[in-house]
Amino acid sequence: MATILVTGGAGFIGSHTCVELLGAGHEIIVYDNFSNSKPEALERIKKISGKDFRFVEGDILDLDALDKVFDENKIDAVIHFAGLKAVGESVQKPVEYYHNNITGTLMLIKAMRAHDCKRIVFSSSATVYGVDNPVPYVETMPTHTSTNPYGYTKVMIEQILQDVYTADKDWSIVLLRYFNPIGAHKSGLLGEDPNGIPNNLFPYIQQVAVGKREFLGVFGNDYDTPDGTGVRDYIHVMDLANGHLCAVDYVLAHKGVEAVNLGTGKGSSVLDVLHAFEKACGKELPYKIMPRRAGDIAWCYADATKAKELFGWEARYGIDEMCEDGWRFIEQNPNGL
Ligand code: WQD
Repeated sequence: MATILVTGGAGFIGSHTCVELLGAGHEIIVYDNFSNSKPEALERIKKISGKDFRFVEGDILDLDALDKVFDENKIDAVIHFAGLKAVGESVQKPVEYYHNNITGTLMLIKAMRAHDCKRIVFSSSATVYGVDNPVPYVETMPTHTSTNPYGYTKVMIEQILQDVYTADKDWSIVLLRYFNPIGAHKSGLLGEDPNGIPNNLFPYIQQVAVGKREFLGVFGNDYDTPDGTGVRDYIHVMDLANGHLCAVDYVLAHKGVEAVNLGTGKGSSVLDVLHAFEKACGKELPYKIMPRRAGDIAWCYADATKAKELFGWEARYGIDEMCEDGWRFIEQNPNGL
């Protein structure tokens, strides 16, 4: 088994991935500054996995701190989650987003290179497909535009990592393009725990279900979709976590750069998700049709063929289980972790 550095490992996807890595017998070191996560997530990882692990509180912009982690640990590969990820916020704060996400990633790459650690799984996003590609999105499609600074940080970091490999063929890199991660660990101990008013659909629905929000605002019902509301490829966070386990095993055994979609290949509308959550929680959830949200597109879903061919990975869970597991978490943690 290997020792994996997990930047942002206390976050939503990071924490669920840590559970998978520990369950598979890997050693992990979590590196997180708690800018969008809480120390309690680390306790929950230990409780679920029954295993202890090293943790370093640090910022990806701090090259000295990163070097120290590599000096003190023999790290075989890195999964890089740490980064700012709120689309709307990135439009208001582009400088902070470009600095944190891109400079931070460059610091991580410099520390890795200085310690001869050249295997990385990068947390990318379907947002790199922009608005001009036809669905279902395929990895070979052009990915050089986005609709917001956050999305551009993912486009640019993918390019940086491709150039790192071009300069040094000893690197092994997987760029995981997430679609819409939702749900929670089946224990109810881990789940999405956003700060403030949720930007994303699923955590907002969760908060309506526990009475923290009065109703769900549905951002437009006049899209060219079956019920007029936006269609997305929602993927269970545990399926996503398992995809990271496959990607780590892949980078440990190969060299080169591979972009890989992690999605189900199926689309669900806003109202599909709302009704599935009503079924899971056993109550009707109020909603109001609102104007469209700037930057939203009608359709976004994956062609998931490559993950199946390259990793032997495919999503196991459907929207009903995502909602059942998401309801269990929020019911047990109405105020988050
Ligand atoms: C989903 C659907 C909304 C909230 C974003 C990022 C993407 C990735 C995943 C990081 C859309 C509708 C939402 C609400 C609503 N994140 N909606 N009411 O926009 O598909 O993707 O998160 O990588 O980069 O862009 O996710 O959950 O915000 O929206 O009607 O209160 O739900 O219009 O159709 P999105 P989302």
